[in-house]
Amino acid sequence: MLHFKILSIFPKYFASPFMDGLLKQAIGKGNLKIDITDIRDFAHDKHRTVDDTPYGGGAGMVMKPEPIVSAIRYARADDKEYKVIVFSPKGKRFDQHAAKRFSQSRKFVLVCGRYEGIDDRVPAFYADEELSIGDYVLSGGEAAALVFIESVSRLVPGFVGNEESIVSESYEKGLLEYPQYTKPRTFEGHEVPPVLLSGNHKEVEKWRMEQSVRLTADKRPDLLEKAKQDRDILRIIETIEKTN
Ligand code: ADE
Repeated sequence: MLHFKILSIFPKYFASPFMDGLLKQAIGKGNLKIDITDIRDFAHDKHRTVDDTPYGGGAGMVMKPEPIVSAIRYARADDKEYKVIVFSPKGKRFDQHAAKRFSQSRKFVLVCGRYEGIDDRVPAFYADEELSIGDYVLSGGEAAALVFIESVSRLVPGFVGNEESIVSESYEKGLLEYPQYTKPRTFEGHEVPPVLLSGNHKEVEKWRMEQSVRLTADKRPDLLEKAKQDRDILRIIETIEKTN
């Protein structure tokens, strides 16, 4: 059982994302549990205040530490195994490698910040990790929490059902995935690459690997450089470069 406890000041944000597809199925089967808590329920005053002006001055508001820390304590009260993750553009980059690492754990408290950010004592002293899902600024951590849940949960055995589909997909070998096609063979004059119709598995595999390398070189040269550290991939890249 995989359990995510989400802390947010916009609990309604999560009304529909768990009502479709693999996540819905997993909840139905009892493999996944999602709890959503309104941080305001842990505010310490009658106005349910969750933010205040920043010390040192500056624009915008900062989320106060007390309601968030109270909500974290409540979420972990019965079980200290819950990993506390704060989402913020200042966090460590979350990628497929990190998703794999987190998929070894089963219990998470996901803290979604809003406004200009969260009082830094929260990630510094009350969280296990501070994560960013990419180099752009969202208006809150809610979308990041969804990205985290979807990418981590599908790596947990029993979720996708087809383990092979995980191994061949983008990033698993450090390369982008090769292009995929289905029927019809000709669509508005655009043909499917003939090698895929040949029935020759070896040729298909070779073509796919070559496409992966070419795509990665074109769109993500940074990934290709890293992938070259794998001797098998380096050999394939060198063969492709020789035949060009
Ligand atoms: N909150 C705002 N921007 C974010 C980002 N890029 N990643 C995670 N949380 C965020």
